[in-house]
Amino acid sequence: MKKIIYPGSFDPITNGHLDIIKRASKLFDHVIIGIVCNKDKSNYLFNHTERKELIEKSIKDLNNVEVKKFSGLLIDFAQSENVNLIIRGIRVLSDFEYEFRMALMNRKLNDKITTLFMMPNEKYTHISSSLIKEVAILGGDIKSYVPDAILNDIMNKINEKST
Ligand code: PNS
Repeated sequence: MKKIIYPGSFDPITNGHLDIIKRASKLFDHVIIGIVCNKDKSNYLFNHTERKELIEKSIKDLNNVEVKKFSGLLIDFAQSENVNLIIRGIRVLSDFEYEFRMALMNRKLNDKITTLFMMPNEKYTHISSSLIKEVAILGGDIKSYVPDAILNDIMNKINEKST
């Protein structure tokens, strides 16, 4: 069985992430979405339980995808799941350096774990969770950038935070 881990912060999941998840779910038997729960980023909009719920709402029709939280090193999470493949999305060239360094570090830490890169649909190359949050907080329309199932949850959270 070919399994792969798609790790990230997913604060929140975007249509760019979902595009990668859908492509991976067609290529692999099982996809594990790994939500990082390390305390290094204290400025998350959604806590890790909320981030997990938002992803679960967005992937209801994908039956070979599951969502798990992890803390610590990604390679340790992969090993504990018995998975030796990691997938990451590359949107634009500027993503590449960070992704390349991370993939090489992970490979140094555990040579048995391989990172694959995939490009999302080009209509999502300019979006990121951070940009979407900024646009939404400032009153812009984010409808086409996040899964329909979670648009209201994102807007409610932003309204809640601003009051
Ligand atoms: O969505 P993001 O924030 O770009 O995802 C980054 C992520 C979660 C893949 C990366 O920060 C990560 O793997 N964190 C776990 C800790 C770890 O293994 N760090 C060493 C990476 S070389």
